[in-house]
Amino acid sequence: MDLFEYQARDVFEKHGVPVLAGAVATTPEEARAAAEEIGAKSGGVTVVKAQVKTGGRGKAGGVKVAKSLDEAEDAARQILGMDIKGHTVHKVMIAQGAQIDEEYYFSILLDRANRSYLAMCSKEGGMDIEQLAEERPEALAKIEVDPNVGIDDAKAQEIVEAAGFDAETAAKVAPVLKTLWTVYHDEDATLVEVNPLVKTEAGDIVALDGKVTLDANADFRQPDHAALEDEKAADPLEAKAKEKDLNYVKLDGNVGVIGNGAGLMMSTLDVVAYAGEQFGASPANFLDIGGGASAEVMADGLDIILGDEQVKSVFVNVFGGITACDAVANGIVGALKTLGDSATKPIVVRLDGNNVDEGRRILAEFDHPLVTIEESMDGAAAKAAELAAAAK
Ligand SMILES: Nc1ncnc2c1ncn2[C@@H]1O[C@H](COP(=O)(O)OP(=O)(O)OP(=O)(O)O)[C@@H](O)[C@H]1O
Ligand SMILES: [Mg+2]
Repeated sequence: MDLFEYQARDVFEKHGVPVLAGAVATTPEEARAAAEEIGAKSGGVTVVKAQVKTGGRGKAGGVKVAKSLDEAEDAARQILGMDIKGHTVHKVMIAQGAQIDEEYYFSILLDRANRSYLAMCSKEGGMDIEQLAEERPEALAKIEVDPNVGIDDAKAQEIVEAAGFDAETAAKVAPVLKTLWTVYHDEDATLVEVNPLVKTEAGDIVALDGKVTLDANADFRQPDHAALEDEKAADPLEAKAKEKDLNYVKLDGNVGVIGNGAGLMMSTLDVVAYAGEQFGASPANFLDIGGGASAEVMADGLDIILGDEQVKSVFVNVFGGITACDAVANGIVGALKTLGDSATKPIVVRLDGNNVDEGRRILAEFDHPLVTIEESMDGAAAKAAELAAAAK
């Protein structure tokens, strides 16, 4: 999960990373009130910043300096509702204005290829770090960080030296890097990026921007992280699936796909996309019901898939293993009984594997008008695509 800048700021503050005062506003009036309070700490100067989970806000006009309350209100009026790379701005952060002397860059990230962590640091931070990395890679120091050691005094020293800071600045930056490591480690992040990390005219090191990605695999030991989720952006069906512990992913097409196991799921999507080409049909979503396809799991799964308005037909593709096909078939029967009249879209079922004959017999006997049984995966995908196209 990516955090908004204001959330990253709060997390930084919690761990002792130096940040400036900031407050969130959703209307120009709120922005004015926030600027009144926050500007008092910086001679009336504030910076109004779009809160969207994408980069390049400054270049898009989403970061504006305001020298008065009127200017702050106006800036918020301009920025709220703005579209930045497909993200609508619903919130702005009013930040205390900094007197910047120099802008630096620092990040820690998960280096999957090397099964390690990587710290990157540059004396030349600001808005164009990607360009810097491409044009003058030597100006961006890259230092491996051993996950078992992290950034201790020695590692922080190694990073600031590689980045080429003068001794006086290095001595001020190094402790901030150690604190940012604490954020990365203690919050189970996969990315902590500060661009810019600045030296103010008073000589203080401050994180002026923050990008943090949290590792959802660690949610079980990070109870505070649930509160950071962006409810506005969350798909209600994804939320429902999560609540039921089902893996659901929204796609753009019109065929709902239910399967068991990640491998079968992926090939099912391919087959639907391929079969759907001639009909203009493609997967609308997919839901992995995992190992235990009980009636309850199947009912929850079908309920979620059918709840997607874009779904015109459903393809249930299950390979019976530990949960045999008869149990899956009973699951589908139970699900359709539970859903009753709320199930209105055609469902194509392909079962194979353990106890397949009994599974197909149960479905044939149930003889539900919405259910079509197909023997092959290709045939079932073609049927589901055809039905989805016909429903248009
Ligand atoms: N509180 C502040 N006071 C003074 N100047 C600021 C402040 N916040 C940001 N700036 C200036 O605005 C520039 C852009 O701000 P910021 O880094 O937050 O946005 P961005 O880099 O455009 O966004 P992103 O990192 O999402 O691409 C900074 O490099 C800095 O010069
Ligand atoms: Mg930035």
